[in-house]
Amino acid sequence: MWHAGYITEIEYSHGYFHELSPLRLKLAMEIAGQRASLPASPCYLELGFGQGESLNINAATNPGSFWGTDFNPAHAATTRDIAAKSGADLIALEASFEELAARDDLPEFDIIALHGIWTWISDRNRAIIVDIARRKLKPGGLFYISYNVTPGWSPSIPLRHIMKEHSKRASVGPIPHRMNEAKKFVQSLFDAGSTYFKANPGVVDRFNKLKDQNPNYVAHEYLNENWDVMPFSQVADQLSDAKLNFAASAHLLDAIDEINLSADAQKLLSQIEDIVLRETTRDYFVNQNFRRDIFVKGQRPLESFEKNRLLMNQPFMIMMRPEDQPRKVTGSLGEGDLNASVYEPIFAALASEDYRPKTISEIIGMPGCEALSIAQIYQCIVILCGSFRVAPAHDEDVFKAVKPTSKALNDEITRRAVYSDSINFLAAPLIGAGVPTNRFEQLFVRAIDLDQEDVALWVWTLIRDQGQKLVKDGKPIEADEDNLNELREKYGEFETKRLPIFKRLGII
Ligand SMILES: C[S@@+](CC[C@H](N)C(=O)[O-])C[C@H]1O[C@@H](n2cnc3c(N)ncnc32)[C@H](O)[C@@H]1O
Repeated sequence: MWHAGYITEIEYSHGYFHELSPLRLKLAMEIAGQRASLPASPCYLELGFGQGESLNINAATNPGSFWGTDFNPAHAATTRDIAAKSGADLIALEASFEELAARDDLPEFDIIALHGIWTWISDRNRAIIVDIARRKLKPGGLFYISYNVTPGWSPSIPLRHIMKEHSKRASVGPIPHRMNEAKKFVQSLFDAGSTYFKANPGVVDRFNKLKDQNPNYVAHEYLNENWDVMPFSQVADQLSDAKLNFAASAHLLDAIDEINLSADAQKLLSQIEDIVLRETTRDYFVNQNFRRDIFVKGQRPLESFEKNRLLMNQPFMIMMRPEDQPRKVTGSLGEGDLNASVYEPIFAALASEDYRPKTISEIIGMPGCEALSIAQIYQCIVILCGSFRVAPAHDEDVFKAVKPTSKALNDEITRRAVYSDSINFLAAPLIGAGVPTNRFEQLFVRAIDLDQEDVALWVWTLIRDQGQKLVKDGKPIEADEDNLNELREKYGEFETKRLPIFKRLGII
């Protein structure tokens, strides 16, 4: 079968994943003190792009040639339709990894990325991916991979097993139905006092969360034929066949030990020389569930002076107003307060001059920041980037170059928002990435773009003509006037909180 046991009966959920953005991958490498050979216009390949949201947004907002493959024709069709509108340099293939590997027209890539693939495919397909990286990733190129990992997932392996077995052996019909039956069955085990759940309270939490998660995501996570959770060391060993070495975590908060590891854990880890053993051990300290790793073909550390120069000169853009910024950060050690004496002046500096992006070199000399050390500013920026409250920005020339494709992509996303709320991001050319936006915000952007004088009224008319209503506190709003008032309120909030930032990001 062409799908090799992978679920194709229902499409995968939509989503944009910042980790896949070339700009962010480069930043993660620099933070980890690792060198990447990335030209100004890299050649990028995404394996298993799903609905193609990450691929389309990255291709429209970054320089380079983008390729991707997914064997699900519905996924490939959506991705191609949208790419045709954006005009980005993007080839979206409808091909399996095996078919891709057999092509003789593939270029060599600077970046190969796969998000949410490795755990859910067969050994054979994993070997094909390693072979693609071995033959088609350039020396110095980056290989981004995310996957479920032990020990965080270990207690839940039997949960997934029983759901899968129930859906295979005890129910028939479409996948959403079989999944619901499997969930009911697991609930009945729990209600009847299964000792497995008593012994593993974390599994109960995971199961309870399943009830609110997107059903398409849950089907792909739990009902696939293949689902192999591995320790980091096993993945690293397999990738070593393609001459790949671990270089950095693409989840930037992982770079900050203070929020993830106790002093004892940091000490123990610092004594482990072998990087594979160190990372595997780190996963035990943080009880890692999901890793977002960057491997590199040919590991070359940056000189510390060079690392500093690169990071000091990288512009950063604040993604929400200082007053809207959370004052907490969550790492593996739990939630912690941000130090106001460090963060407040940095928020103010980043928001000054209408949110113009600033480098760390600039921030040092800005009012209120004089007393801060470079190390404090640097750590603050990494924490804020890691929690998506700040983002690395392109320089002015690149920004200008990627604006037309980003604009065309956003036109298509906001056109789709007229009928559906499936895409929850807009393309932000300044930061080479997507920005979370709901359907109303997308329609506000469209109305502004179309020079509508009364934005809320324009959006309400669209929604009303489709027989839809707004929902407040879980209930539909009945009267037209109340719907319009609710939209006016939403637009007022959007205008104050997001519009100035969207303008700076180049979305509007
Ligand atoms: C869990 S989804 C992840 C999608 C996307 N990367 C994301 O994170 O949104 C896995 C995707 O890989 C595709 N896929 C699985 N096995 C494949 C194979 N052997 N060849 C090509 N695509 C495959 C599926 O069709 C699906 O779209």
